[in-house]
Amino acid sequence: MKIIIINGPNLNLLGKRENDIYGDETFNDFFEKLQQKFPILSLSQFQSNIEGELIDKIQETGYSYDGIILNAAAYTHTSIGIADAVRAIETPVVEVHISNTFSREEFRHKSYIAPNAKGVIVGFGLQSYELALQSFFK
Ligand code: DQA
Repeated sequence: MKIIIINGPNLNLLGKRENDIYGDETFNDFFEKLQQKFPILSLSQFQSNIEGELIDKIQETGYSYDGIILNAAAYTHTSIGIADAVRAIETPVVEVHISNTFSREEFRHKSYIAPNAKGVIVGFGLQSYELALQSFFK
């Protein structure tokens, strides 16, 4: 099973960014553990701060992968381009957020991606990614 995690802007700073909200673990450390926990999966990850690169990656993987776990970060709340890409592809997308966006500022309550996602997992820290991964097993 081929699954990719696609992370949007500023998620490359996990571990040193607003630790009270996002925790103190780097994504690479977390990802290594995730790979060890699910060795039978072909798991990959991609991060970009650039909207168009995220769209390119969604298009590139969206017809051949079994699942996409997408944390579009701030673009979740603004990007119709990413939302359209999610809508266009065939691979199911699970939207994830580390923080509980609904308990934060109102502008974070809106997701342009959610209506076209298979599901949304919000607020469980980095464990949100693992829960999203598990959702592809059945
Ligand atoms: C986030 C929530 C977004 O509102 C924010 O812009 C992020 C991270 C999360 O994972 O909690 O960068 O997607």
